[in-house]
Amino acid sequence: MILERVKKVLADGAEAVVEIIQMPDEERGRTVLRSLEHKDPLWKPHIERSVAGYFSQVARDFYFLAFSHDAPIGLGYLQVGLENTEVGSMGHIYTSPEMRGKKTFVAVIESLLALFEKQGGKALFLQGDIRLYGRFGFAPYGNVKLKVFGGYPFEEDYFRPQGAVAIRDANWGDMASTEALLSWPGGDVGRIGPLDVYRGTGFEGDFIVALSLVEYGRACFKAATDKRGHIGATAYLLKGHSPETSHLGWVDVFAHPKYEGHLEPLLLSALQWAGTKGVKLVTAQACGSEQDKLKVYKSAGFGKRAELPWRVAEGDKKHHTVLLEKKFE
Ligand SMILES: CC(C)(COP(=O)(O)OP(=O)(O)OC[C@H]1O[C@@H](n2cnc3c(N)ncnc32)[C@H](O)[C@@H]1OP(=O)(O)O)[C@@H](O)C(=O)NCCC(=O)NCCS
Repeated sequence: MILERVKKVLADGAEAVVEIIQMPDEERGRTVLRSLEHKDPLWKPHIERSVAGYFSQVARDFYFLAFSHDAPIGLGYLQVGLENTEVGSMGHIYTSPEMRGKKTFVAVIESLLALFEKQGGKALFLQGDIRLYGRFGFAPYGNVKLKVFGGYPFEEDYFRPQGAVAIRDANWGDMASTEALLSWPGGDVGRIGPLDVYRGTGFEGDFIVALSLVEYGRACFKAATDKRGHIGATAYLLKGHSPETSHLGWVDVFAHPKYEGHLEPLLLSALQWAGTKGVKLVTAQACGSEQDKLKVYKSAGFGKRAELPWRVAEGDKKHHTVLLEKKFE
């Protein structure tokens, strides 16, 4: 569905139109797919599903298509989860090679930011070069970039739980919410590793891999949310793929300090899933300095299996990694 057509003047004085499209839209969906043929194969199934409206039960997927004389010349993508409309994740920014340097990119980004703000967005995340996005007010946030709107005090407010915290399965509408949490730059070094399968989901591409494995029945991804739908803690448990390893699981948990009390129920709910899938042995890792995580694993019945010295570096400081495991009866 085309929501709006915004007229823009390019650097050479020519007129461009940016169409704001909410998916699904069959015709514009085809244009988007053609414009994104260059994307990494990791993204292709996600883009195809997005334009087909597959995520519309849990998210709003917007595309910003710039046209010059009816020919598509630029593109941008914005996803906002339905449960938490205050955060958004954007990407797929592209200008056709022959149209570069004419401010098509600026026209697309301006339309995207205006829509996000108009719909009540407060914090927008992207992966991208700060030299391109700094001018729009984006600033580094962990490994990604963040722009806040209307002076929103993100650090003070976002992770302060409001109302009761609930635990639920993560879904395709959680891309921005998990990006907000898993890219959070605070905390000690142990939070940056060492089990990439989990912590890596701060990037949208890793989120797609993580949730695809859930769809294949190979993993469980749990989230703790407050009444605003803000995710403050998650647990991810990956099960072995082959017949030889299907009895094994690897788990990791992460919480913003304000959600630390929710780590244990999250972990238990991931372990419960593993128990129903025939997993007999679950391995976890924690940095030696992560006392909170170690405590949670121990109270869930994990025992220390080994200590790997100097695995995680924080400047000159090096931390041990503790391997823990739990056997199921
Ligand atoms: C990056 C890209 C979208 C820019 O599109 P564009 O329509 O040519 O950009 P604009 O004409 O609106 O230029 C906007 C500004 O960004 C600058 N810019 C463009 N590409 C840049 C780059 N790679 N690094 C730093 N600055 C860049 C331009 O010089 C211009 O600055 P100015 O206003 O000071 O002159 C385009 O080159 C592209 O599609 N690249 C391949 C895909 C990509 O890299 N996407 C971004 C991923 S986050």
